[in-house]
Amino acid sequence: MREGRDNWASVRRVAGRRPSARCTHSHEAESDTAPAIFRPEAPAGSLRLELSTLCQLCGCAGVGRTGEKIVEARDLAHAYAPGRPVLRGVSLDVAPGEFVAVVGENGSGKTTLARHLNALVPLQAGVLTVAGIDAGDPARVWELRRACGMVFQSPENQFVSTLVGEDVAFGPLNFGAGEKDARLAASAALAAVGLAGFERRDVHALSGGQQQRMALAGVLASGPDVLVLDEATSMIDPQGRDDLVRAVARERAERGTTVLWITHDMELAARADRVVVMRAGEVVAAAAPEEVLANRPLLEGAGLEPPLAVRVWEGLERRGAVSGPAPVTVEGLVSALCE
Ligand SMILES: Nc1ncnc2c1ncn2[C@@H]1O[C@H](COP(=O)(O)OP(=O)(O)OP(=O)(O)O)[C@@H](O)[C@H]1O
Ligand SMILES: [Mg+2]
Repeated sequence: MREGRDNWASVRRVAGRRPSARCTHSHEAESDTAPAIFRPEAPAGSLRLELSTLCQLCGCAGVGRTGEKIVEARDLAHAYAPGRPVLRGVSLDVAPGEFVAVVGENGSGKTTLARHLNALVPLQAGVLTVAGIDAGDPARVWELRRACGMVFQSPENQFVSTLVGEDVAFGPLNFGAGEKDARLAASAALAAVGLAGFERRDVHALSGGQQQRMALAGVLASGPDVLVLDEATSMIDPQGRDDLVRAVARERAERGTTVLWITHDMELAARADRVVVMRAGEVVAAAAPEEVLANRPLLEGAGLEPPLAVRVWEGLERRGAVSGPAPVTVEGLVSALCE
């Protein structure tokens, strides 16, 4: 039962919306200049969030204590069929609270890497630790799945009930919470994703964007330390994407949750703390968006295209109108042009 109580402690954290226990930043310098997470002035459909900031409670933008890692992957290799490797020696460290975007062309191994993070595929070679849990230890699979929640491209594959409230409460129940507490955690998670009061709705009567946020709530209700989103916005419209991104931003701001977001959306990747580029089962770059997303040869080698701001900047540069490092976000581009 000890495990159940530990799990429930995590559920309570969500229901009570308490600050992250991991948030150990100094609150002095920035306490009265908390970063604006939302950008309501931006037009609907554009990304209206500033995701490069972290903890709105303390106003800091650090990514955890120096050297601390919540995900530590060393030389991961994987093959679904003998002799056909899809991961080839992937090593990746992620700091607590960090927002990492993982990009790469189709078949480069992003989903396979994500599946390793909560033991959806067995560890064949290498070492992987998530929130201090050895992903290769079969006895700790459930612990790992509570610590690392995943939201996939098609939310309907994750539904376990036709009622929104029951579906979202499934995680906490599964991890040992009582009925009432699981319902409380579900309601808190639904509110956190902007679906307060949806408990009695039919899952199938929700829009795709609402279903995706409900899937996110289903994961958040268990209070994960690491949230992995695998192309979670690719099936929804720009407004739905904004809503989902906003919900993830709020979760990071309130709990310091670490986010790994697999995406083909370079505008979203531009707002990450770090961008990881995968190609043919390898990590070929892992650096700040400014370093990765303005590097056209690197991106093209990985079957990718730079974000809009970089493409506009390149066009202006060719005409001699601008020079210097390209901004990677539209906001950065506007600032650079208006200077
Ligand atoms: N269950 C599976 N069985 C066999 N091969 C698989 C399986 N899942 C993925 N693969 C293969 O592994 C390789 C990597 O797939 P993966 O889904 O990890 O790539 P990805 O980067 O997520 O691609 P995408 O951008 O299309 O989602 C691909 O060649 C794919 O065909
Ligand atoms: Mg994939």
